[in-house]
Amino acid sequence: MPTGAQKEALRATHAALYRQPARSTRGGPLFNAFPYPTKISPETIALFIATHTSPGATVLDSFAGSGSTGLAAILCGRPTDQMRQDAERLGLTARWGPRRAVLYELSVLGAFVADVLCNPPDPAEFSNAAEQLLADVRRQWAWLYRTRDPDGADGEIRYVVWSDVLRCPKCRKHASLWDACVSRRPANISSTFRCPHCGKRSAIGSVSRVRATVADDLLDNERTSRRRVQAWVYGETDGRTWSRPAQTADHRDFKQIQQSAFPEPVPVQQVPWGDLYRAGYHEGISHLHHFYTHRNLLAFSALWNATARFPDRLRPSLRFWLLSYNAAHSTLMTRVVAKKNQEDLVVTSAQPGVLYISGLPVEKNIFAGVRRKISTLQAAFAMVHGQGDLVEVRNASSLQVDLPDESVDYVFSDPPFGGNIPYAEVNFINEAWIGRLTDVKDEAIVSRHQNKTVDDYQELLRGAFREAQRVLRPDGFVTVAFHSASAGVWNALRSACEGAGFHVAGTSVLDKTQASFKQVRTNGAVKGDPLILLSKTRASGNGREAEVWAVTKELVKQATKSSNPAEATPQRLYSRLVGRYVAAGQSVPIDAGDFYRGLQERHGRYAEQAV
Ligand SMILES: C[S@@+](CC[C@H](N)C(=O)[O-])C[C@H]1O[C@@H](n2cnc3c(N)ncnc32)[C@H](O)[C@@H]1O
Repeated sequence: MPTGAQKEALRATHAALYRQPARSTRGGPLFNAFPYPTKISPETIALFIATHTSPGATVLDSFAGSGSTGLAAILCGRPTDQMRQDAERLGLTARWGPRRAVLYELSVLGAFVADVLCNPPDPAEFSNAAEQLLADVRRQWAWLYRTRDPDGADGEIRYVVWSDVLRCPKCRKHASLWDACVSRRPANISSTFRCPHCGKRSAIGSVSRVRATVADDLLDNERTSRRRVQAWVYGETDGRTWSRPAQTADHRDFKQIQQSAFPEPVPVQQVPWGDLYRAGYHEGISHLHHFYTHRNLLAFSALWNATARFPDRLRPSLRFWLLSYNAAHSTLMTRVVAKKNQEDLVVTSAQPGVLYISGLPVEKNIFAGVRRKISTLQAAFAMVHGQGDLVEVRNASSLQVDLPDESVDYVFSDPPFGGNIPYAEVNFINEAWIGRLTDVKDEAIVSRHQNKTVDDYQELLRGAFREAQRVLRPDGFVTVAFHSASAGVWNALRSACEGAGFHVAGTSVLDKTQASFKQVRTNGAVKGDPLILLSKTRASGNGREAEVWAVTKELVKQATKSSNPAEATPQRLYSRLVGRYVAAGQSVPIDAGDFYRGLQERHGRYAEQAV
């Protein structure tokens, strides 16, 4: 049982944790290992776990996604220098040492990613196996990306920009979007269609797309979709990179590739279209394989099927490696954008959280891409490997948590933000390769397609929070990261927390930008996701009082360093204190009179100047 003084110290360190924005940096091997929408850096979550709990504690995440909370629990036992510095800078009493984590994640993909990342194989063994797999597959399939450079010598494709084909409203002739709208040096994608045949200019929205009917070998039928042609080829010859317009020979090569039958099984999976379907750019896209060019489908399925030749202890990590590159980089959702002051278009991955296919999709060389990921994954695995079985991932709904009452010390979660991202629908591309799709019945989102209103969403959240409330020990806390631009969604979250029996004990901000610490401290308004601290009991007068004096101590410290003597007056200190609470959107907990009296007791010298 902690003593009164220990309790006071704990409250002070909790107050310090929520007083200033927490920084979630988008970088490092763990963050970059797998693209998953709206994830938070595990290093940041670790600060919360290390401040709220002691080593050996059990942490729950009810909406675990790709497993950042599990990684954080492990990292508490292996804090990086940066984590130690962050804790010191924020004035936290972080207790380093590993924690156990139980992760609930409904989606098949999220749970798969979390499980591999939190329980990775030996990093060197993984990297050797990945290199070997890639070499084996390349021996048979490297020809897919062979081409000619601008001088006619042999080269290798790095990526090909494809283009939709449009019909000029005036002369009715066909022109590629690339020819009509794209210019290089400097890069620009115009929203005006300029017909290369008759010169007529039209707003791009008023120009119709050309459709094509093509044979679908996997479905053994024909389908009609947008017509696309290769527009520009980017390649490499002996380490020298180059680019050139697509030529007749490229179209001929591709036709030849299309004649190649799939030597190995490819999942024939219907798209579970929901909220993300758009009649325009998803026309004719009814199955998984329609998201790929024939070349990339051959390359990816060859890699995927090769994983079956590896032992059980390595196969999941090899599949993780391939999937980490799959949806975001291997499909037609990869795109080019024109950035200001850039000579050429910039290739970028799929837009997160949607299944958008642009009019200028990019076909990347998958073999080159997955090779580059090996070292990132090796580094990520090395950060957490060998810590024992600390993290248990449960691919299940958090509306039923299989843990005893009051057995969890702390909960960290970021639930879906209303209708922001339909996770199961977005994850379907990778789940189709895993061979199992998510059951969306309990998916806590607002969704027109799933017939889930804000009220239904609130009810699902409440169910998950009620379970968290049940398994949390009486003095435990929940930290929720949340963001929404909709008042209705915010109210749903608040009602769900209250309905589950939680009380708001504090708030803060999770700054997901890459701002330096200085910016974070000096700019009053920091963009970021609100953080909400929940407790099972209403914050007692004592708790808030302890927080007031912890903040005051810090303000007095700052005042002593200031060259302006007015900063050290009780009136100014009170104003500063009020400012802190108002800026955090919290009620002001103490009147000026009580403050001056308390200040007199604790920091007599300042109060003497006061009244
Ligand atoms: C904002 S994401 C969490 C991201 C996570 N912090 C990470 O590290 O990647 C929310 C997650 O909640 C999951 N989810 C939605 N409803 C759920 C439910 N009833 N039970 C468990 N997970 C659920 C979604 O599949 C999604 O992965």
